[in-house]
Amino acid sequence: MENIKLNIDKTFGCTSAAEVKALEQKVMAAIEGLEKGTCLGNDFLGWLHLPSSITKEHLDDIKACAKTLRDNCEVVVVAGIGGSYLGARAVIEALSNSFQWLLKSQNGPIMIYAGNNIGEDYLAELSEFLKDKKFGVINISKSGTTTETALAFRLLKKQCEDQRGKETAKKVIVAVTDAVKGAARKTAETEGYKTFVIPDNIGGRFSVLTPVGLLPIATAGFDIDQLVAGARDMEAATAASVPFDQNPSAQYAACRNALYAKGKKIEILVNFQPKLHYMMEWWKQLYGESEGKDLKGIFPASVDFTTDLHSMGQWIQEGERTIFETVISVETPEKNLVVPSDKENLDGLNFLAGKRVDEVNKMAELGTQLAHVDGGVPNMRVSVPRLNEYYLGQLIYFFEKACGISGGVLGVNTFNQPGVEAYKKNMFALLNKPGYEEESKKIQAKLGK
Ligand code: PA5
Repeated sequence: MENIKLNIDKTFGCTSAAEVKALEQKVMAAIEGLEKGTCLGNDFLGWLHLPSSITKEHLDDIKACAKTLRDNCEVVVVAGIGGSYLGARAVIEALSNSFQWLLKSQNGPIMIYAGNNIGEDYLAELSEFLKDKKFGVINISKSGTTTETALAFRLLKKQCEDQRGKETAKKVIVAVTDAVKGAARKTAETEGYKTFVIPDNIGGRFSVLTPVGLLPIATAGFDIDQLVAGARDMEAATAASVPFDQNPSAQYAACRNALYAKGKKIEILVNFQPKLHYMMEWWKQLYGESEGKDLKGIFPASVDFTTDLHSMGQWIQEGERTIFETVISVETPEKNLVVPSDKENLDGLNFLAGKRVDEVNKMAELGTQLAHVDGGVPNMRVSVPRLNEYYLGQLIYFFEKACGISGGVLGVNTFNQPGVEAYKKNMFALLNKPGYEEESKKIQAKLGK
């Protein structure tokens, strides 16, 4: 099977092959740090050889639970935030029909998401939508105490029990959480829910190939064997024994660091397939939370093209030259749609007649690359043969491995996220959470109350 491919040639001009090569030693040292477990944050390296260590029994257990949810639910709500939902949503949306909501005959439950915001309207409208629907919940939280998720789950649990009765609710509520600690574990054990464990040594943003991602993806009806197979093949393609020049994750990590050293502080991940929107969101979390610390790190941004060429396109073409782009290019779409010929040609589009829509999209992609490179935006390209489970598995592992390497080259602890605690501390103090009495006093004084 072919692999996804990285092309960095269009960054040369800003950086060069020699400058990328000059990072070889640092990159290989970062790979060794991951492999030997000597890097910063080395208690969170469970993702590194995860694809090759997932057993058939584990996948069968996940599939059996997914089947119970599929057989008993019209809707499944995935409750989680950050690493506890973005990976699942990224894969599910990339593989789903764009209009799945509106399709009359559903092949399995509709997948929706909650616990990733505290919008009262969102939660109230979700509750209205779920009224009279046979719904189930996958409650995902490693800590088991994340406010957004816990709050949504409290509401969903009550509604599910009220609508379906406590006994049925027990069958269609599943918890994916820590093996022993946290409120989600406690609730699951008290209520008798089916549970899956998030390993201690895998952080949220690296957890899509654990039940955090695999259970929702299987519940949505997608092939998790293939997803894991793709990741496993990319694990081999990026192994420590693979030479620097042939390791796509090493090349990507080196190139983005070479660009960063040239003042390119913002990386824009680009897609030309709207279904990849959430893959960008997942990637932003992976890189933003991993690298943005110690007052450094490339800012990860994203755009959906050609849509955003009509908005952000101006900034990218002519704004401050602090950006580079990484384009995820899907080689072959799953569907085939040809532009029809029109006798009257009132819209003047007959020059496209007979062409596949994707050919038009590909020329937009090439034209954009040429224009942006000419405009001083270095451009990397990740070619993905097709949007299927196998290649998404490859893509996920490719980015995870590159992130581990890139953080090592940057010299940060890739696997912690101390910065996300600051807002939580303030919020709990403002809400008078028990245990935050001192912080409450301080924050009230700060606000002049
Ligand atoms: O990557 C991370 O560690 C975070 O984004 C977490 O996934 C997120 O904060 C949710 O945490 P939890 O799973 O503990 O609810």
